Amino acid sequence: MFQLLQQQQGKEEEYHYEQESLPLILVPDESNQLGLPMQFPDIWLRDNCLCSECYLHQTRSRLPQLWQHLDTKRIRVYHLNIDQRREIVYIEWNDGHRSEYPFYWLRERDFSLPNRMHYLQNFYRPEPRHWSGKEFALIQKEFLYQDLISKNDELQQWLYQLAVYGMALIKEAPLEFDVVRHLCNRVGFMRRTTYGEEFSVRAQPGASNYAYLAAPLPLHTDMPYFEYKPGVTLLHTLEQSDSPGGRNLLTDAYHVADILKQQYPEQFRILTETLVDWADIGSDNQLEFHNIWRSPVINLDADGRYVRINHSIPQRDSHFNVHPEQVRPWYEAMALFVRLAHEQAYEFKTKPGDVLTFNNLRLVHGRTGYADTEQNVRHIVGGFLDWDIVYSRWRILQRSQTAGK
Ligand code: OGA
Ligand code: ZN
Ligand code: ZN
Repeated sequence: MFQLLQQQQGKEEEYHYEQESLPLILVPDESNQLGLPMQFPDIWLRDNCLCSECYLHQTRSRLPQLWQHLDTKRIRVYHLNIDQRREIVYIEWNDGHRSEYPFYWLRERDFSLPNRMHYLQNFYRPEPRHWSGKEFALIQKEFLYQDLISKNDELQQWLYQLAVYGMALIKEAPLEFDVVRHLCNRVGFMRRTTYGEEFSVRAQPGASNYAYLAAPLPLHTDMPYFEYKPGVTLLHTLEQSDSPGGRNLLTDAYHVADILKQQYPEQFRILTETLVDWADIGSDNQLEFHNIWRSPVINLDADGRYVRINHSIPQRDSHFNVHPEQVRPWYEAMALFVRLAHEQAYEFKTKPGDVLTFNNLRLVHGRTGYADTEQNVRHIVGGFLDWDIVYSRWRILQRSQTAGK
């Protein structure tokens, strides 16, 4: 590879490869700040040919021709020409097919490690940063409702804050029912659930959902009983309780998972491996439902990164479909999780016009018990967004921001 790099220092070099093909094409690029050449596997370049036989520009997508009779062994570069002046790479393949790739397109797709890291962290999804209860004041960020409605850079920063820290507080929203809907529409659209789109959290006699009582609502994630659990929760305070209660609690459960992983590896393993049954059975607005989902409390992806926390005491099913010997160890691990989540909680009290927004896959939230009076009836309007929709809006804003520079 080093030899090839040396050869490619020339401005316009041409290569013929008849028998042995290059597995990796190196393209020197003067604009690269690290002085690294761009790197592309040959087969990837063939798969991503931009000609009209291979690519449909109007849908920005690959056409299927190549894959109808794909013989991976026969794909080889026959002739490579890197035109540094015009910034185009020309390739003739050994089946006679010709491709050309402009540098500006190649730069974004460069396989070199710094470029891949840059793309994953600055465009795919911002890297989450976990926080302890003590650090809350450092990570907390406030936005004004009107700014989010009228300014795209504020909208972008709100979504970034949600992605990185998992929470943001919006201030000075009007005391109107459709505030949550307007915010969701700025991002994309609301996530509908069995409780409708917006839902009112109010103490109601004979309530069908535990949250609709004035009792304390211990730390939880919303709707763990869905495979596709809502990603972001928005809670708009229309009327706050004058009683000492109705206070909010928030904990970064990814930080709790960090503590378990470092200090209690066995309990961490149990909480990541034991499938728990979650349930919500009943009806709302004449819609009957029987929602159940089995999933651990701490969910990891193939690389061991946290992807989702499930926790809700009222919504954990009494069905528990695990081997009986797994049960007591799970309770012991869960008791530790709950204790740590409480130790790490930050407590505050929203005011009318505040909209608390947080990552429902990551944070656990709760509220203390309260008392209503005839003159003062606590009223929160909630709604949800899905992460796909949030990241999509954030990327569009991110792209338009960098394109303007
Ligand atoms: C809920 C909830 C918070 C509150 O309804 O799930 O978390 O402040 N409510 O009432
Ligand atoms: Zn082509
Ligand atoms: Zn909730």
